[in-house]
Amino acid sequence: MRINQFIAHAGVASRRKAEELIKEGKVKVNGKKMTDLAFQVSGNDLVEVNGQQLRNEEFVYFLLNKPRGVISSVTDDKGRPTVVEILGGVKERIYPVGRLDWDTSGLLILTNDGDFANLMTHPSHQIDKTYVAKVEGHANKENLRPLTLGMKIEGQKISPARYSIIRTEKQKNASIVELTIHEGHNHQVKKMFETVGLPVQKLSRITFGSLTLDGVPAGKYRELTRKEVKDLMNLAK
Ligand code: URA
Repeated sequence: MRINQFIAHAGVASRRKAEELIKEGKVKVNGKKMTDLAFQVSGNDLVEVNGQQLRNEEFVYFLLNKPRGVISSVTDDKGRPTVVEILGGVKERIYPVGRLDWDTSGLLILTNDGDFANLMTHPSHQIDKTYVAKVEGHANKENLRPLTLGMKIEGQKISPARYSIIRTEKQKNASIVELTIHEGHNHQVKKMFETVGLPVQKLSRITFGSLTLDGVPAGKYRELTRKEVKDLMNLAK
Protein backbone atom coordinates (compact mmCIF):
# COMPACT_ATOMS: atom_id res chain seq x y z
CA MET A 1 0.00 0.00 0.00
CA ARG A 2 1.28 3.47 -0.91
CA ILE A 3 2.57 5.36 2.14
CA ASN A 4 -0.01 8.17 2.08
CA GLN A 5 -2.80 5.63 1.72
CA PHE A 6 -1.39 3.62 4.62
CA ILE A 7 -1.38 6.70 6.86
CA ALA A 8 -4.92 7.60 5.83
CA HIS A 9 -6.02 4.02 6.48
CA ALA A 10 -4.68 4.24 10.02
CA GLY A 11 -7.04 7.16 10.57
CA VAL A 12 -4.30 9.75 11.14
CA ALA A 13 -4.94 12.08 8.22
CA SER A 14 -6.44 12.30 4.76
CA ARG A 15 -4.24 11.09 1.90
CA ARG A 16 -3.45 14.65 0.88
CA LYS A 17 -2.60 15.68 4.45
CA ALA A 18 -0.50 12.53 4.73
CA GLU A 19 1.55 13.68 1.75
CA GLU A 20 2.13 17.00 3.49
CA LEU A 21 3.29 15.20 6.62
CA ILE A 22 5.72 13.17 4.53
CA LYS A 23 7.06 16.34 2.83
CA GLU A 24 7.42 18.00 6.24
CA GLY A 25 9.62 15.08 7.34
CA LYS A 26 7.22 13.93 10.03
CA VAL A 27 6.97 10.36 8.79
CA LYS A 28 9.49 7.61 9.52
CA VAL A 29 9.62 4.11 8.13
CA ASN A 30 11.65 1.60 10.14
CA GLY A 31 13.20 4.45 12.10
CA LYS A 32 14.32 6.49 9.06
CA LYS A 33 12.75 9.67 7.73
CA MET A 34 10.71 8.83 4.61
CA THR A 35 10.46 11.42 1.86
CA ASP A 36 9.48 9.18 -1.05
CA LEU A 37 5.78 9.87 -1.67
CA ALA A 38 5.49 6.72 -3.79
CA PHE A 39 6.97 4.39 -1.14
CA GLN A 40 5.04 1.12 -0.85
CA VAL A 41 4.53 -0.05 2.74
CA SER A 42 4.86 -3.79 3.23
CA GLY A 43 3.60 -5.99 6.06
CA ASN A 44 6.77 -5.77 8.16
CA ASP A 45 7.37 -2.00 7.90
CA LEU A 46 7.01 0.10 11.04
CA VAL A 47 5.53 3.45 10.17
CA GLU A 48 5.62 6.41 12.58
CA VAL A 49 3.92 9.78 12.28
CA ASN A 50 5.13 12.47 14.67
CA GLY A 51 6.88 9.76 16.66
CA GLN A 52 3.77 7.65 17.02
CA GLN A 53 3.74 4.16 15.58
CA LEU A 54 0.84 3.26 13.32
CA ARG A 55 -0.74 -0.12 13.34
CA ASN A 56 -0.26 -2.00 10.13
CA GLU A 57 -2.85 -4.64 10.79
CA GLU A 58 -6.38 -4.73 9.56
CA PHE A 59 -8.93 -5.26 12.30
CA VAL A 60 -10.13 -8.85 12.33
CA TYR A 61 -12.97 -10.48 14.27
CA PHE A 62 -13.57 -14.19 14.83
CA LEU A 63 -16.23 -16.29 16.47
CA LEU A 64 -14.85 -19.42 18.13
CA ASN A 65 -16.80 -22.36 19.51
CA LYS A 66 -14.47 -22.90 22.45
CA PRO A 67 -14.10 -26.49 23.59
CA ARG A 68 -13.81 -27.34 27.30
CA GLY A 69 -10.29 -27.67 28.65
CA VAL A 70 -8.87 -24.63 26.86
CA ILE A 71 -8.06 -21.35 28.58
CA SER A 72 -9.29 -17.97 27.35
CA SER A 73 -5.96 -16.20 27.01
CA VAL A 74 -3.17 -15.61 24.54
CA THR A 75 -0.48 -17.59 26.38
CA ASP A 76 -0.38 -19.73 29.50
CA ASP A 77 2.62 -19.96 31.81
CA LYS A 78 1.63 -23.54 32.72
CA GLY A 79 1.62 -24.58 29.07
CA ARG A 80 -2.09 -25.37 28.92
CA PRO A 81 -3.82 -25.06 25.55
CA THR A 82 -5.18 -21.57 24.83
CA VAL A 83 -7.96 -20.30 22.58
CA VAL A 84 -5.46 -18.30 20.53
CA GLU A 85 -3.61 -21.51 19.65
CA ILE A 86 -6.81 -22.87 18.10
CA LEU A 87 -6.72 -19.90 15.70
CA GLY A 88 -3.03 -20.57 15.00
CA GLY A 89 -3.36 -19.77 11.30
CA VAL A 90 -4.46 -16.18 11.99
CA LYS A 91 -1.48 -13.83 11.53
CA GLU A 92 -2.92 -10.84 13.38
CA ARG A 93 -2.32 -10.52 17.13
CA ILE A 94 -5.76 -11.45 18.36
CA TYR A 95 -7.01 -11.96 21.90
CA PRO A 96 -10.30 -13.04 23.47
CA VAL A 97 -13.09 -10.55 24.17
CA GLY A 98 -13.85 -11.31 27.80
CA ARG A 99 -13.38 -14.78 29.15
CA LEU A 100 -14.96 -18.19 29.40
CA ASP A 101 -13.80 -20.47 32.21
CA TRP A 102 -11.42 -23.31 31.39
CA ASP A 103 -14.27 -25.83 31.75
CA THR A 104 -16.92 -23.70 29.96
CA SER A 105 -17.48 -24.24 26.26
CA GLY A 106 -19.14 -22.11 23.62
CA LEU A 107 -19.21 -18.76 21.93
CA LEU A 108 -16.13 -16.59 22.29
CA ILE A 109 -15.13 -13.63 20.12
CA LEU A 110 -11.47 -12.91 19.36
CA THR A 111 -10.16 -9.72 17.78
CA ASN A 112 -7.22 -7.33 17.57
CA ASP A 113 -9.57 -4.32 17.88
CA GLY A 114 -9.19 -2.98 21.41
CA ASP A 115 -12.00 -0.43 21.13
CA PHE A 116 -14.40 -3.12 19.99
CA ALA A 117 -13.31 -5.43 22.83
CA ASN A 118 -13.88 -2.67 25.40
CA LEU A 119 -17.27 -1.90 23.95
CA MET A 120 -18.34 -5.55 24.14
CA THR A 121 -17.19 -6.14 27.70
CA HIS A 122 -18.16 -2.88 29.40
CA PRO A 123 -20.89 -3.77 31.93
CA SER A 124 -22.97 -0.68 31.13
CA HIS A 125 -23.38 -1.77 27.52
CA GLN A 126 -25.76 -4.58 28.40
CA ILE A 127 -25.10 -7.08 25.64
CA ASP A 128 -27.16 -10.21 26.31
CA LYS A 129 -25.34 -13.50 26.59
CA THR A 130 -27.20 -16.80 26.89
CA TYR A 131 -25.76 -19.84 28.62
CA VAL A 132 -27.00 -23.41 28.84
CA ALA A 133 -26.23 -24.92 32.23
CA LYS A 134 -26.58 -28.47 33.43
CA VAL A 135 -27.19 -28.06 37.13
CA GLU A 136 -27.47 -30.53 39.97
CA GLY A 137 -30.98 -30.71 41.41
CA HIS A 138 -34.47 -29.97 40.19
CA ALA A 139 -34.81 -26.46 38.86
CA ASN A 140 -38.25 -24.94 39.23
CA LYS A 141 -39.96 -21.56 39.39
CA GLU A 142 -39.46 -21.29 43.13
CA ASN A 143 -35.76 -21.99 43.36
CA LEU A 144 -34.93 -19.98 40.21
CA ARG A 145 -36.95 -16.89 41.16
CA PRO A 146 -34.03 -15.07 42.88
CA LEU A 147 -32.17 -15.08 39.54
CA THR A 148 -34.91 -12.94 38.02
CA LEU A 149 -35.01 -10.43 40.86
CA GLY A 150 -31.39 -9.41 40.89
CA MET A 151 -29.18 -10.77 43.63
CA LYS A 152 -26.01 -10.07 45.53
CA ILE A 153 -23.00 -12.29 45.02
CA GLU A 154 -20.01 -11.74 47.28
CA GLY A 155 -21.29 -8.25 48.00
CA GLN A 156 -21.72 -7.41 44.33
CA LYS A 157 -25.12 -6.51 42.92
CA ILE A 158 -26.14 -8.63 39.94
CA SER A 159 -28.83 -7.52 37.47
CA PRO A 160 -31.99 -9.58 37.02
CA ALA A 161 -31.56 -12.43 34.56
CA ARG A 162 -33.99 -14.37 32.37
CA TYR A 163 -34.20 -18.15 32.42
CA SER A 164 -35.95 -21.00 30.70
CA ILE A 165 -36.04 -24.58 32.03
CA ILE A 166 -35.25 -26.87 29.12
CA ARG A 167 -35.81 -30.14 31.00
CA THR A 168 -35.28 -31.91 34.28
CA GLU A 169 -33.56 -35.29 34.35
CA LYS A 170 -35.20 -36.86 37.40
CA GLN A 171 -33.09 -40.06 37.55
CA LYS A 172 -29.88 -38.07 37.27
CA ASN A 173 -31.08 -35.42 39.74
CA ALA A 174 -30.10 -32.76 37.19
CA SER A 175 -31.74 -29.99 35.15
CA ILE A 176 -30.89 -28.14 31.97
CA VAL A 177 -31.54 -24.41 32.23
CA GLU A 178 -30.91 -21.55 29.81
CA LEU A 179 -29.90 -18.30 31.48
CA THR A 180 -29.51 -14.88 29.83
CA ILE A 181 -27.39 -12.22 31.53
CA HIS A 182 -25.71 -9.07 30.26
CA GLU A 183 -22.86 -8.64 32.72
CA GLY A 184 -19.63 -10.58 32.80
CA HIS A 185 -18.47 -10.93 36.40
CA ASN A 186 -16.00 -13.69 37.15
CA HIS A 187 -17.76 -17.08 37.22
CA GLN A 188 -21.04 -15.18 37.30
CA VAL A 189 -23.35 -17.93 36.01
CA LYS A 190 -21.82 -20.60 38.25
CA LYS A 191 -22.11 -18.33 41.27
CA MET A 192 -25.72 -17.40 40.47
CA PHE A 193 -26.80 -21.06 40.30
CA GLU A 194 -24.68 -21.94 43.33
CA THR A 195 -26.48 -19.21 45.29
CA VAL A 196 -29.88 -20.78 44.58
CA GLY A 197 -28.63 -24.26 45.54
CA LEU A 198 -28.21 -25.66 42.01
CA PRO A 199 -24.49 -26.14 41.41
CA VAL A 200 -23.39 -26.09 37.77
CA GLN A 201 -22.03 -29.34 36.39
CA LYS A 202 -21.58 -28.22 32.79
CA LEU A 203 -21.76 -24.78 31.18
CA SER A 204 -21.84 -23.54 27.63
CA ARG A 205 -22.42 -20.09 26.12
CA ILE A 206 -24.72 -20.30 23.12
CA THR A 207 -25.28 -16.64 22.17
CA PHE A 208 -23.48 -13.30 22.39
CA GLY A 209 -25.71 -10.40 21.36
CA SER A 210 -27.03 -11.31 17.92
CA LEU A 211 -24.45 -14.09 17.39
CA THR A 212 -25.14 -17.80 17.71
CA LEU A 213 -23.01 -20.91 17.23
CA ASP A 214 -24.98 -22.03 14.17
CA GLY A 215 -22.72 -23.88 11.75
CA VAL A 216 -19.65 -23.71 13.99
CA PRO A 217 -18.89 -27.05 15.72
CA ALA A 218 -16.80 -27.21 18.93
CA GLY A 219 -13.17 -26.32 18.28
CA LYS A 220 -13.96 -24.52 15.01
CA TYR A 221 -14.16 -20.82 14.23
CA ARG A 222 -15.25 -18.41 11.52
CA GLU A 223 -14.70 -14.77 10.71
CA LEU A 224 -17.50 -12.36 11.62
CA THR A 225 -19.06 -10.46 8.74
CA ARG A 226 -18.85 -6.66 8.67
CA LYS A 227 -22.57 -6.55 9.30
CA GLU A 228 -22.26 -8.73 12.40
CA VAL A 229 -19.52 -6.48 13.79
CA LYS A 230 -21.58 -3.39 13.06
CA ASP A 231 -24.70 -4.91 14.62
CA LEU A 232 -22.77 -5.76 17.81
CA MET A 233 -21.41 -2.22 18.00
CA ASN A 234 -24.91 -0.83 17.60
CA LEU A 235 -26.20 -3.16 20.32
CA ALA A 236 -23.54 -1.80 22.67
CA LYS A 237 -24.36 1.86 22.10
N1 URA B 1 -20.12 -17.55 33.95
C1 URA B 1 -19.36 -18.54 34.48
O1 URA B 1 -19.55 -18.92 35.61
N2 URA B 1 -18.39 -19.05 33.72
C2 URA B 1 -18.13 -18.68 32.46
O2 URA B 1 -17.23 -19.21 31.82
C3 URA B 1 -18.93 -17.65 31.92
C4 URA B 1 -19.92 -17.11 32.68
